[in-house]
Amino acid sequence: MHIETELLKADFQGYVRATEILRSGGLVSLPTETVYGLGGDARNDHAVAQIFEAKGRPQFNPLIVHVPSAEVAKNYVQWSHEAEVLASAFWPGAMTLVLPILPEAGISPLVSAGLPTLAIRVPAHPVAQALLEEFDGPVAAPSANPSGRISPTTVEHVVTGLNGRIAAVLDGGACEVGLESTIIGLGDEPTLLRPGGVPVEVIEAALQCTLRLHSEGEPLTAPGQMTSHYAPGAAVRLNATERMLGELLLGFGDVDCDLNLSAAGDLTEAAVNLFHHLHALDAKRASGIAVSPIPETGLGLAINDRLRRAAVPRD
Ligand code: TXA
Ligand code: MG
Repeated sequence: MHIETELLKADFQGYVRATEILRSGGLVSLPTETVYGLGGDARNDHAVAQIFEAKGRPQFNPLIVHVPSAEVAKNYVQWSHEAEVLASAFWPGAMTLVLPILPEAGISPLVSAGLPTLAIRVPAHPVAQALLEEFDGPVAAPSANPSGRISPTTVEHVVTGLNGRIAAVLDGGACEVGLESTIIGLGDEPTLLRPGGVPVEVIEAALQCTLRLHSEGEPLTAPGQMTSHYAPGAAVRLNATERMLGELLLGFGDVDCDLNLSAAGDLTEAAVNLFHHLHALDAKRASGIAVSPIPETGLGLAINDRLRRAAVPRD
């Protein structure tokens, strides 16, 4: 799909236009002090699916949600003492906190890729701040680069990578940090999930403890690292053309089924429906969920990746 990418100045008109695009489910690249983000309304499944599509991300890596203040963040995640310490010390700034998501908060399940946690951040860049205030809602934003390429720190980088795939870029000059945010997981023990713009030593000094390092092969907070992820109660059988006894069929395309990811065979629509439909079928307590074949192209890669993880045998 090719759309005309608008270059927006960071003035009143620019904020109004960017907000209008976000409200209608479109994508706007916004400057943060770390890198440019590829933003969409975090409550809108379709907008979030479009983010993955525009980046050409091979899997649904969970996204960071951007909000204007810690007060607003508390509407979306379960707050804790450590969160308060880190937010007071480093927000607004180059730090992302991973905390338990509040399920009633209305964030699209695609944002957290079905995880029970949410990565959330308050950026310091005045243009990001102004847009978040004007939009008055949570903005999901990965770095605004095509998957596998270098993160963008200027409008030109964004345009080179994503021109024609996003509705607009808001110009905030070159990013000050130029390196993504530090990601801290606040589960049982504060854990460094990704080194970034705020150095570890400074964080440890604020918390008065040593950060646990997230090491390879350790169990797992991000779905990309998991073998079995999003496990419904029922056994999942892939590439099914019909139901077997006791199964419900999750269809794709023109098939007779219990729920259809996309009757039209549209992969963006299927991505939007995936977690919703799996939850809905799971709630029916069938002994098995059979799934129609899904093409291994575009968002189909991500959908199949998630489905394969759901289908991994488990006890
Ligand atoms: O500086 C930044 O963090 C930039 C700006 C735009 O905010 N964003 C950014 O997003 O770097 P992205 O998507 O490129 O990287 C987000 C990282 C991914 O590695 C993802 O796995 C991790 O955050 N992540 C997101 N949600 C998570 C969660 N619930 N648990 C663990 N890791 C999570
Ligand atoms: Mg990135």
